[in-house]
Amino acid sequence: MIDYKVKSGSPEKQRSACLVVAVFENQIMSPAARIINKNTGRMISALMNRGDITGECEETVLLPQVTGIQADRVLLVGCGNKAEFSIGKLQKVTTGVIRKLQNSKIKEASLFLAELQIKGSDIATRIEQIVMQAEHSNYHFDATKTDNKEKNQQLQKITIFIPDRSSLSIAKQAIINGKAIASGENLARELGNLPGNICTPSYLAEQAKVIATEFNMKAKVLNEKAMEKLSMGALLSVSRGSRQEAKLIILEHKGGSSKDAPIVLVGKGLTFDAGGISLKPSQAMDEMKYDMCGGASVLGTMRSIAEMKLPLNVIGIVPSSENLPDGAANKPGDIVTSMSGKTIEILNTDAEGRLILCDALTYAERFKPSAVIDVATLTGACVVALGAYASGVFSNQDSLAQELIDAGEKSLDRAWQMPIWEEYDQQLKSNFADMANIGGPKAGAITAACFLARYTETYDWAHLDIAGTAWLSGSKKGATGRPVRLLCQFLRNRVKIK
Ligand code: BES
Ligand code: MN
Ligand code: ZN
Repeated sequence: MIDYKVKSGSPEKQRSACLVVAVFENQIMSPAARIINKNTGRMISALMNRGDITGECEETVLLPQVTGIQADRVLLVGCGNKAEFSIGKLQKVTTGVIRKLQNSKIKEASLFLAELQIKGSDIATRIEQIVMQAEHSNYHFDATKTDNKEKNQQLQKITIFIPDRSSLSIAKQAIINGKAIASGENLARELGNLPGNICTPSYLAEQAKVIATEFNMKAKVLNEKAMEKLSMGALLSVSRGSRQEAKLIILEHKGGSSKDAPIVLVGKGLTFDAGGISLKPSQAMDEMKYDMCGGASVLGTMRSIAEMKLPLNVIGIVPSSENLPDGAANKPGDIVTSMSGKTIEILNTDAEGRLILCDALTYAERFKPSAVIDVATLTGACVVALGAYASGVFSNQDSLAQELIDAGEKSLDRAWQMPIWEEYDQQLKSNFADMANIGGPKAGAITAACFLARYTETYDWAHLDIAGTAWLSGSKKGATGRPVRLLCQFLRNRVKIK
């Protein structure tokens, strides 16, 4: 993690390895750029006139030697059209800056970016975003690489400059919050990126205990025997084909009053999904190590809110298992009895997420929750419907769906609502059990949600299908940490309306 400081002062007087100042298109300078320009014999104006810097968003120009100021270098960063500058652009700009600083092996920098005005945003929001995005860009996975010397060259210190001394304490709090959310997000990414042979259900349970100890949460882990006692027949059926024991992980953050009903987050923690007997094609099957990203985002969010000491009661539940083919595995046609007592005909063993989730959702009833949000890489159909930009939202309470959509909009971790009408639910009819675990080829993301809806009738519930948003494929393959930002924003908003 980078060390962050906040300071107020004039750019030309700062002794720093690198000042980072913003310029916009149409030769417009930020306040800090104007001062540097004045102190360097109009150097920035000259570069603009020559077309060496256009101000295009994310463009970076490093001036390695500058006279007239105290700092060693200046990094000019383009922020696009001034009138269109936004939080999204601030994120992009921060990413560009961090990448440039890393590539130039600069270990310390002074950022004059928080001073840039954005309609509808305050200084705290801008600083939080800078810190979150800097940490996001600085994350790099090396847990399973033997050559990790890149680590030593990482950026070590960032000083964030603010225009007004009176907001110093607000700014310091924003750094704390930004770091807390980033830590949760990067925890989710790290767990997601770890391979299935390391990140097993037991491993996830151990990590949950580690964060519980560090951040004063209560942790409980149920093993298969304990789950049998609770009659979690659906969850256990998925794990039968695996040599790794399934775990039900429960974390409790008690930040609110003991009378307050908790919000429960449930995350799918399928540490490797081969499909079971309904085996998946081998193409890109490695990516099914990411099938625990919902669970990882719940653990990450719990970590973030505990670190922020959010005054709210929140419980995180992660049902965790593998889904593998084996002589003992579920077979198509098998009928299992869930904890709720309802029977399920398993027509496709690859629709296992809903089987582990339904028992966790029934388990959530005991907490008398004010709301339950489940998060799951549940369906390929959701990737087809919404792609990589929006997570799918499904809910039995439209106002809850709207809260999540709003939180996604605010945190730029966006989500979009889909219907769970009765007509879709009909597709789950089975000739032999109370329901089938699949609803046919049409509207697969919706019928999966309809399945879960049958287990969540006693409380306000929403489901986030993150199959398209939890990780990137191709050359940028890796977990994104989504939707930790959305969930943190949602929970912080809940504190305000309480
Ligand atoms: N984990 C997968 C969903 C998934 C697939 C996420 C591809 C991201 C990319 C889930 O367990 C699954 O296999 N779902 C099936 C359901 C089907 C059998 C009804 C799917 O989406 O194909
Ligand atoms: Mn599956
Ligand atoms: Zn799965």
